[in-house]
Amino acid sequence: MSVAEPCDTASDSITIRRPDDWHLHLRDGAILKAVLPYTAAQFARAVIMPNLAPPVTTAAAAAAYRDRILAARPPGSDFQPLMTCYLTDATAADDIEKGRAEGIWIAAKLYPAGATTNAHHGVTDIAGLAPVLERMEKIGMPLLVHGEATDPAVDVFDRESVFLERSLLPLLARHPGLKVVVEHITTAEAADLVRAHAPRVAATITPHHLMINRTALFQGGLRPHLYCLPVAKRERHRLALRKAATSGDGCFFIGTDSAPHVRGAKESACGCAGVFVGATALQSYAQVFDEEGALDRFEAFASLNGARFYGLPPNGGTVVLERRAGKPGAAVAIGDEEVVIFRGDETLPWSIGGGRS
Ligand code: DOR
Ligand code: ZN
Repeated sequence: MSVAEPCDTASDSITIRRPDDWHLHLRDGAILKAVLPYTAAQFARAVIMPNLAPPVTTAAAAAAYRDRILAARPPGSDFQPLMTCYLTDATAADDIEKGRAEGIWIAAKLYPAGATTNAHHGVTDIAGLAPVLERMEKIGMPLLVHGEATDPAVDVFDRESVFLERSLLPLLARHPGLKVVVEHITTAEAADLVRAHAPRVAATITPHHLMINRTALFQGGLRPHLYCLPVAKRERHRLALRKAATSGDGCFFIGTDSAPHVRGAKESACGCAGVFVGATALQSYAQVFDEEGALDRFEAFASLNGARFYGLPPNGGTVVLERRAGKPGAAVAIGDEEVVIFRGDETLPWSIGGGRS
C-alpha cells in the first residue's frame, strides 16, 4: 500500500504583499471602464502610460486623465494611478519640474518618434532633450524609455539592441545621475545592460515576454493577439528574461505593458501592436516563477523592487496566488466589440485567491 504524500501547502499557494504594475496602458472612455477592474483586482498601483490620442503632454491633461481613471474604478477599489508625461521635442524643463512639484507626474516617458502606438508625437532628437533630462536628473524624476530604434533600415528584431548601443548608452553617459527604466525589455543584451547600470537603471518585464518567443507569433498561422512592440525575440532571449525576472535582483520588476486593442484592430490587414494581459498577469507571472523554482523571489519582483526604485513604500495588504486551475475567460466585451485576453481561453495552473487590503 502506498502512503499519500502530504500536500505541500508551502508551494500550493503563495501570499505576497499587494503588487504594483509599473507599466500599464488603460486607454480612455469605454475601454478604460472595461479594462480597469481587471488591473484594480490585481494591483494596488500602476504607472499609467500617456500615449493617448492626443498624448498626455501637460500636467493639466494628466490631472484630468487621473480623475477619469479614479472615476472608472469599481466600487470600493483603492487602486491608485501614477501618471506620466509624454515627452516631445517641445517639452519644457520648467513644466516637467512644476508637474512633479504639484505631485502629478511620477515619471516621464520617452517614445522615439514613431516607435509604437500613438508615438508619432514622440521625440525625434534625443540629444536635444538634454535640458529636460538634466532637470529630471536634478529633481530625481525617472525617465521611462521605449527602447527601440526607429530607423526603418533596422530589422524589427534588432531594434531594441540597436537602440541600446546607439541611443541608450550615450544617454546614460550624458546623464550619469538620471534614473532610467528600460521598459518591457525583450533581449538578453537589455537585461545585461540594466544589471551593469543598476541601481539607477532598472527594467520592467512583461508576462508575455516571459512566456512566448517569436516563433509563437507564427504557431500554426499568424497570431495577431501575441503581437506587441518590442516584438518577442528568439528563445534564448526569453530564457534570459526569465533568469533576470526570477533572480531577485532589485533592478527587475513587474510592468505588464497590458495594451488593449479591440479585436477588429488586431485582426486586421495592418494590426495594432499590444497584448491585453491585465486580466491574467499575476497568474502568468506566478506560473513562470513556479516553473523556474523561484516562488520565494516572486514578492521581490512583484511588490518590492519597483517601489524601492521609485522611492515609494511597499503596499499594505496581501494577495494570495493559488496553484488551482482557472479559466479566465477569452475576452472582455466593449460595446459591440471585444478585447481578447492573453491566455484567457486556456486553463491556467495558477489563480488569484483571497487577500487583505
Ligand atoms: O505593443 C505595444 N503596445 N507596445 C507599445 O509600446 C505600446 C502599446 C500600445 O499602446 O498599444
Ligand atoms: Zn507600453
